[in-house]
Amino acid sequence: MTDLNHWWQQAIIYQCYLRSFNDSNGDGVGDLPGLIEKLDYLRRLGVDTLWISPFYPSPMADLGFDITDHTAVDPLFGTLADFDRLIAAAHQRQLKVLIDFVPNHTSKEHSWFVESRATRDNPRRNWYIWHDPASDGGPPTNWRTVFGGCPAWTFDPQTGQYYYHTYLPQQPDLNLRNPEVQAALLDILRFWLERGVDGFRIDALRQLIKDVQLRNNPPNPDYDKQMRPYTAVLPVHTTNQPEVHTLVTQMRQVLNAYGERLLLGEMYNSIEQTVSYYGEPGSGVQLPTNFQLMFRDWEAQSIAGLIEEYAAALPSHGWPNWIVGTHDQPRLVSRLGAAQARISAMLLFTLRGTIGMYYGDEIGMHDVPIPPDQVLDPQERLEPGMGRDPARTPMQWDSSPGAGFTRGKPWLPLAEDADTVNVAAQRDDPTALLTLYRRLIALRRATPALVLGDYRALTVDGNLLSFVREHAGQRLLVALNLGSQAATLEAGSRTIQGNIVLTTGLDRIGERVGASLALRGDEGVIVTLV
Ligand code: NOJ
Repeated sequence: MTDLNHWWQQAIIYQCYLRSFNDSNGDGVGDLPGLIEKLDYLRRLGVDTLWISPFYPSPMADLGFDITDHTAVDPLFGTLADFDRLIAAAHQRQLKVLIDFVPNHTSKEHSWFVESRATRDNPRRNWYIWHDPASDGGPPTNWRTVFGGCPAWTFDPQTGQYYYHTYLPQQPDLNLRNPEVQAALLDILRFWLERGVDGFRIDALRQLIKDVQLRNNPPNPDYDKQMRPYTAVLPVHTTNQPEVHTLVTQMRQVLNAYGERLLLGEMYNSIEQTVSYYGEPGSGVQLPTNFQLMFRDWEAQSIAGLIEEYAAALPSHGWPNWIVGTHDQPRLVSRLGAAQARISAMLLFTLRGTIGMYYGDEIGMHDVPIPPDQVLDPQERLEPGMGRDPARTPMQWDSSPGAGFTRGKPWLPLAEDADTVNVAAQRDDPTALLTLYRRLIALRRATPALVLGDYRALTVDGNLLSFVREHAGQRLLVALNLGSQAATLEAGSRTIQGNIVLTTGLDRIGERVGASLALRGDEGVIVTLV
């Protein structure tokens, strides 16, 4: 795709982890009215699309990804009327709203599952994945849960069969081969589309269909005990089954009837598998999540290689996306350190495609150690050290005791530096990270070359990564020093003449660049070439 024909191509998607964004009623948990209060903050930051984590009724075994009703709001987060107010208030501010759609599983307390497990012959039995035990009485296959790598089948003595769950036993997988289940899920999409949502982030997309022949997954030859237990077998029969694409087509058809709405498909996949989800034009998801930047070595050669590899793999109708943080991964600052987090911001907002960022990264929030008695994420209990609570702590708005997030007791502990690292402290600070985010986003908005321009690698030299973005005569040079030592970009036979428009230190702006460009350690520079 070489033109900007769709709103989501220019989107900067801000993931709002609702529990932790802003608490309006003092119960220590973020909620929809709290989010409404902060929409102007998001506008000022410059993002244009919100993705809100699940707010549906849930026993919270997996913090809301275990749903008992996909078309309601859990009282913890507000009401349906609050949701309608949110949509109206967001749209009034030209903000689009994506919500989480969780079709792979429900809570085990969902009425569908309660019926399904009641008897073998009840009408909802086939809504979930039930199987007889293997001949030795054990689970039907060697399939493992994502959390903890435990057997992904749980025996239900009442009916003498096992049910399948990709994640926790409290999250039974729906049988998405069943047309009745498919129809029920498509109705859920329609319900929210009618209420005005601009699209969905589809949870666990690659897991939606499992092998009908129940073949065992093969052992992973590269597995060693340091790796996550889930990876001991290769999930070839439990992920990326061809029929998932048929489901996506059905979903897309529903969306297509509502004008231009977006499907962002969540997946942890290789580049090759990821791009297969673009499907045929008009029938796949518009954006299969590209999380690669979170996993590559933070090193010039490997990042440059990634950018090229991904571009080369995209189908001609595929629009790129880059996502650097989510509620499931360690935070940027904790992965890269504060200095390189600024470089990663510059990289992110100068790459071609749609951009996804995670709340709090714009102020440099880091992972917060969670005392054992306050752990809430089930993954931490199953895989100590892998818990996701540290990256989900409350947004730091100001230096007050509840960090401006709550007047009550926050559901997870606040960072110990919340009194200094917060929005209020950075709002008017000309060199703060928040200011850098705002300036980068504003520059991107004003510069089509940064969104859709061609990408041309310039140099990868030691820690220095540089490239040019070019569109309709507009050319920008981006030079990033991924190391802490000073480095110089020599023009050589190329022209790098121009003026600095932005640096990660928010200084040097307007400086002229001639035959070479000197970068300090941990510095990134954007030059408008003349
Ligand atoms: C992916 C979600 O991002 C994660 O938070 C959740 O635990 C699993 N899917 C299960 O829904």
